[in-house]
Amino acid sequence: MASIANMDLADVPSLDLMTELLRRMKCANKPEKRLILVGPPGSGKGTQSPFIKDEYCLCHLATGDMLRAAVAAKTPLGVKAKEAMDKGELVSDDLVVGIIDEAIKKPSCQKGFILDGFPRTVTQAQKLDEMLEKKGTKIDKVLDFAIDDSILEERITGRWMHPSSGRSYHTKFAPPKVPGVDDVTGEPLIQRKDDNAEVLKSRLDAFHRQTQPVIDYYMKRGVVNKLHAEKPAKEVAIEIQKALS
Ligand code: AP5
Ligand code: MG
Repeated sequence: MASIANMDLADVPSLDLMTELLRRMKCANKPEKRLILVGPPGSGKGTQSPFIKDEYCLCHLATGDMLRAAVAAKTPLGVKAKEAMDKGELVSDDLVVGIIDEAIKKPSCQKGFILDGFPRTVTQAQKLDEMLEKKGTKIDKVLDFAIDDSILEERITGRWMHPSSGRSYHTKFAPPKVPGVDDVTGEPLIQRKDDNAEVLKSRLDAFHRQTQPVIDYYMKRGVVNKLHAEKPAKEVAIEIQKALS
């Protein structure tokens, strides 16, 4: 994380400073929210996260994005995670719990967080509860991106990503302005190594066996909102706004 002590604020463009100041003023009165997004691969968790993050002033913590960054940087964490990720299996609970425990301490998570792709096992959910209990907080809402498996292959095989920002596109449903190029930076888009029909089968299997029970775990607390994730992205966003209002 960039530290303000190592930065000369005079070098930061005025527009960036003003934008951040306005954002903080807008966020000052927002209530805290701690959210979990759960759903199979391609159900739209990453697509909906930027708008939820901006609207409710939350940080977006996507374990998949964090693990991919660690794999790309060849850190010890990335080396441990790579094999399971390439096969579409889950990485060990201890690895991801450690990542989240660290990440939720960030100043940008002060108003709460969006957990995208975590917890994915009941053990992870229990560990998260322990973490939050220590801080005297709890999960407010779980958004269940419910969708039929048959829709997901087309979404996954048509997805293109901008790796450094996590922005995702789709050749048919959300094409970039220029094919193969990120709208914001102009940098090239890539396809994820696990975004193919073969690995998708393992990812779906892991979802149904290990992650579906997480939804039941939170159902018992009455905090789950089921979304119609097969609808167009704009309609799903409206459902989310209703669920969070
Ligand atoms: P992760 O990165 O979390 O992948 P995932 O769960 O498989 O989910 P995706 O990112 O594929 O789906 P998404 O719901 O974000 O879809 P998106 O919005 O991009 O995890 C990867 C791997 O990391 C795991 O397999 C595992 O190995 C490991 N891992 C991560 N977390 C872990 C944990 N907690 N424990 C253990 N291991 C862990 O949308 C997909 C496409 O569809 C896009 O192209 C988009 O444009 C399009 N689209 C989205 N919404 C719509 C819509 N409504 N209509 C039409 N198109 C749409
Ligand atoms: Mg995602």
